[in-house]
This record gives sequence, C-alpha cells and structure tokens, in this order.
Amino acid sequence: MSVKLQFNGSEQVSEKIFALPAAEFAKDVVAGLTADKKFLSSKYFYDEVGDQLFQEIMGLDSYYLTRAEFDIFEKRSAEIIKLLSERLESFQLLEFGAGDGTKTKVLLRSFLEAGLDFRYCPIDISDNVLKGLTESLHNELPDLKVEGLHGDYFQVLNALNMKSDQRKVIMFLGSNIGNFSYEKAQDFLNAMSGNLHSGDLLLIGIDLKKDPKVILEAYDDPEGVTARFNLNLLSRINNELAADFDLDSFKHYASYNPQNGECRSYLMSKKEQTVTLEAVSTQIHFSAWEEIHMEISKKYSLQEIERLAESSGFRVKKQLMDDRQFFVDSFWEVR
Ligand code: AVI
Repeated sequence: MSVKLQFNGSEQVSEKIFALPAAEFAKDVVAGLTADKKFLSSKYFYDEVGDQLFQEIMGLDSYYLTRAEFDIFEKRSAEIIKLLSERLESFQLLEFGAGDGTKTKVLLRSFLEAGLDFRYCPIDISDNVLKGLTESLHNELPDLKVEGLHGDYFQVLNALNMKSDQRKVIMFLGSNIGNFSYEKAQDFLNAMSGNLHSGDLLLIGIDLKKDPKVILEAYDDPEGVTARFNLNLLSRINNELAADFDLDSFKHYASYNPQNGECRSYLMSKKEQTVTLEAVSTQIHFSAWEEIHMEISKKYSLQEIERLAESSGFRVKKQLMDDRQFFVDSFWEVR
C-alpha cells in the first residue's frame, strides 16, 4: 500500500510500506498477557492519543532528555556538519523513529544552510506522526527533499536493503535505542550495519547513566502524564480488542536499576481481577499487585556505548554531550 503526499513544486512523498497489522497487535497482546510474567510491548503506546501524550511528556520539566538533545543540536551542529562534509558528497539521511521532528528541524535547517546535498527520509511507526511531519517540513523547510517511510524499524531495515548504493547517514535520536534491551539493541544495530556500506554513518542519541532520582522523576512525573501514557495502552486494548480493563484499578510504577541502567515501567493490578478481551475470546486473571511490564528505557555509560558500537559493526567517531552531561549524541561509522 502506498500513500503519496505531493505538494506543489517540492518533492514530498510519504510511502506507506508497512502498516502494523491489527492481527499482529492482537497476537502480541494475547502472548504478553498470557505469559508467565505479563508484558506488553511499548511499541504499541503510539496510537493517536499515545502520540499526543508523548508530545506532552517531551514538554515536561522532569523529562530532561528532549531538552538535552536539543541543546546538543543547537550548540554543536557545526561539528556535525564538519564530520558529514568531510566524509560524504551527497547522501540519504534516514531517520528512524522521526517523531514530530522538533529537534531534527534544528539540524535539517543547519544542514541546508551549510549547503549539504541530501535527501531526508523520516521513518516512523506512527502514520499520523509521519504525515504531520511531512506537512510541517514542507511549510517550514520548502527546499528540503523529503521521502517519508512508515513502518516497524526491523521491517524497514530489511526492505531498504540497499535499494540504492547512495551513501547513507542514519539518525536514531531521542534515546529510542534505550527502549531495547542490550541484546536487542545489539541485534538491531548489527542488522543496521549489515545493511550499510563501510564508511556510512550513524548519529545515535543515547541517555546517559546519572543520579537515579533524576531518572525516576523523568519516568514518574508529578503531573502523571507518564502514568496516563502507559495506561493509554490498556484503553487501546479496550477499544481495539473489545476488552474491559478498568483503568482505575491499575497503577503506574517506575523503577531504576543502576547496575544494568534499566529504567522499567510497570502497570500494577491494585486488586485481584479478571479482564475479558472479547475480540480474541480471552480472559486474563490478575492477582493483587501483579505487574504488567510495559517498557525498558535503558541508560548507558560512555564506555558501554563504545562497547555497543564495537560489538555491532561500528566504530565511535565522536561523542557530543550537553552541558550537564545527561545525554550524548554519538557519531558512529560503519567499519
Ligand atoms: C521514545 N522513548 C525514547 C521514550 C523513553 O524515554 O524511553 C518513551 C517514554 N516512556 C516514558 N516516557 C518517555
């Protein structure tokens, strides 16, 4: 299926190559909720309401990640441009998990001003977000060549599989890599380097290990937005699988383990209860205070980042940090 968004004169194309099928959502939800240790995949957070709640999270004082990365792009874009222009004449700039592009626009504008020759291909799991981004880019940066790709990272990565041999720069920003376990991150990055040529580049945004109190506040904000963000997945299951989750009988809980850097989010069942998912003829029993594991947001040290790059086919070229050293945008080259 392919949806093309054409705007007068400029090249703006959004290609819907992979929707996440409803059957896959149903299968994953049932598998997660019937597992010994219940879990749901955080990739399903991002329906229309989830997208809006994530936007709200990014504006919260406690969610330092977005501002830290913004700070890096504002202050260090000249270094990023130097690195790119030293290595590549023209390139395809692929962004995994593009989101609303607020931060990326800072970079894109500076790339255009510096005269870099590139085509920007945002890839996002949310079709809504991608359409909004493509349209706003057309209005704000009319000279930019854009080709939006909708889908799951792994699927897109396989499909891209060198459609062209143009040099590639991948951006994977906003600590999206943190939503994978270390092993999954390695698999993902190995698949990425395997689909690239030696010398292609990756700019990856990674949240650093820091005071656990700062991390916990980011994932359990006093305004309760992150709690609503997690609970929204239960609403989504109610809507899409005719389920009867009572949101008031679940409580959001975040924990941080400094040994492995994993901040984990759970929804805890406040009482013993049974939930029916009518559309898939399934009943789920919860004991009092039983958990559903919702998300991992992993934090790294600089040494762990070096190790991750080395073990997945890359080498680190540069680490760009914000003033407080909360976050790093790390430049990697395919070996
Ligand atoms: C999208 N991702 C990088 C966010 C994170 O920080 O793990 C998602 C999020 N979850 C709770 N707050 C934000």
